[in-house]
Amino acid sequence: AKKAVLGPLVGAVDQGTSSTRFLVFNSKTAELLSHHQVEIKQEFPREGWVEQDPKEILQSVYECIEKTCEKLGQLNIDISNIKAIGVSNQRETTVVWDKLTGEPLYNAVVWLDLRTQSTVENLYKRIPGNNNFVKSKTGLPLSTYFSAVKLRWLLDNVRKVQKAVEENRALFGTIDSWLIWSLTGGVNGGVHCTDVTNASRTMLFNIHSLEWDKELCDFFGIPMEILPNVRSSSEIYGLMKISHSLKAGALEGVPISGCLGDQSAALVGQMCFQDGQAKNTYGTGCFLLCNTGHKCVFSEHGLLTTVAYKLGRDKPVYYALEGSVAIAGAVIRWLRDNLGIIKSSEEIEKLAKEVGTSYGCYFVPAFSGLYAPYWEPSARGIICGLTQFTNKCHIAFAALEAVCFQTREILDAMNRDCGIPLSHLQVDGGMTSNKILMQLQADILYIPVVKPSMPETTALGAAMAAGAAEGVGVWSLEPEDLSAVTMERFEPQINAEESEIRYSTWKKAVMKSMGWVT
Ligand code: G3P
Repeated sequence: AKKAVLGPLVGAVDQGTSSTRFLVFNSKTAELLSHHQVEIKQEFPREGWVEQDPKEILQSVYECIEKTCEKLGQLNIDISNIKAIGVSNQRETTVVWDKLTGEPLYNAVVWLDLRTQSTVENLYKRIPGNNNFVKSKTGLPLSTYFSAVKLRWLLDNVRKVQKAVEENRALFGTIDSWLIWSLTGGVNGGVHCTDVTNASRTMLFNIHSLEWDKELCDFFGIPMEILPNVRSSSEIYGLMKISHSLKAGALEGVPISGCLGDQSAALVGQMCFQDGQAKNTYGTGCFLLCNTGHKCVFSEHGLLTTVAYKLGRDKPVYYALEGSVAIAGAVIRWLRDNLGIIKSSEEIEKLAKEVGTSYGCYFVPAFSGLYAPYWEPSARGIICGLTQFTNKCHIAFAALEAVCFQTREILDAMNRDCGIPLSHLQVDGGMTSNKILMQLQADILYIPVVKPSMPETTALGAAMAAGAAEGVGVWSLEPEDLSAVTMERFEPQINAEESEIRYSTWKKAVMKSMGWVT
């Protein structure tokens, strides 16, 4: 039977810390037509270390593309309607590979990894007290979180990486670069690039001039020739090349024309194009970004300054203030994989619902130290307030509450920095399907929480950037063309006093989590 023809379609790869997805949208209606998701392994070779296999990540992208195309076929949709592909990705995670063989030279060092703690301490001592040029150029505090120190570690500790650099065979990239290079041909002419949003998370990128910064590269001892070309978030980087891993060359020749770090992609997908508009995404971590327009706003309260997006080579750059929480969905995965108190992540809602309270139990999941607003690498996870009455349901509830309290901390910081408090919080990400979490979030923030009915806003943002690129032009970003998105709203249901008491007890617990590692 002849397959039905739709308007132009756009695909998006959403490569997160916990899973990979490929999704296909109708560019005229923003409707999600089909998708496929694959969970990604995380390796913890030592305490505090977090690694992933770059080839498994790439393979998962191929698998998701293939399965999604199969599903489209079952819906009678012709995949030749896919006119562009966007990429959004977990940020900061660092890969070095050999451009002649296409082989990664070490596992990907994941953003959550803490192995560079002493590197960070030593570097910190070299920053003059009154001239924090790292912060003023990059918008970032010196932390294990960002790529520069991970790359420094690879250069210091992995012989294969050192040798490849000496022999001019090494390429560095965050996950976007690794994927785009591989998908555009790899050893056969793959394009080595990144976009401004991903570059802004490396600690090597000057967010004012939008270029790699020589002074920063010298400070971290990074050879500039291994860095990718920095491009805007919306332009044609290259075309999909046939791969033996991809059956029948699905999507061969389709332009890859959108690239954004996942949190920037979600900001775009939530249509936060105006100064002061913000979104909070609940993934492995949890990230609140507020668009600050063309201004680089520097936080007084522990937030980062980062590039929000630049949707075209000749388009202006937008910046954001960001509150980053390292552990959100990851605490649920930990309860599943490390404690085994749930079999699937969805079960957490059932457990929490059984009790409807943590009964005074507080769980600070500072597994990778604490990020915003504390930036405290010495913190470690604690569960406190336990009695003989406490059971796994209370701990499950406390884990969900922890995600909400951490969001409250970064929202408070955002409100202080911006001066105008947010009237409601726009949310997205996998965890937002948990209704208990959403209600708790509204109760703890004491403002309404608003969620779009289509939760895949990260992928949507990447698809929009890809579809709008010059030379593709199938997606219009003009406000009047944006489809009306239906929203679900959660209003605070407890009284303000109770909300404050719970929050101040949480703060006591946070203080107890600090200083565990010296
Ligand atoms: O900065 C890390 C962030 O990009 C990870 O996102 O979705 O994997 O929690 P996610």
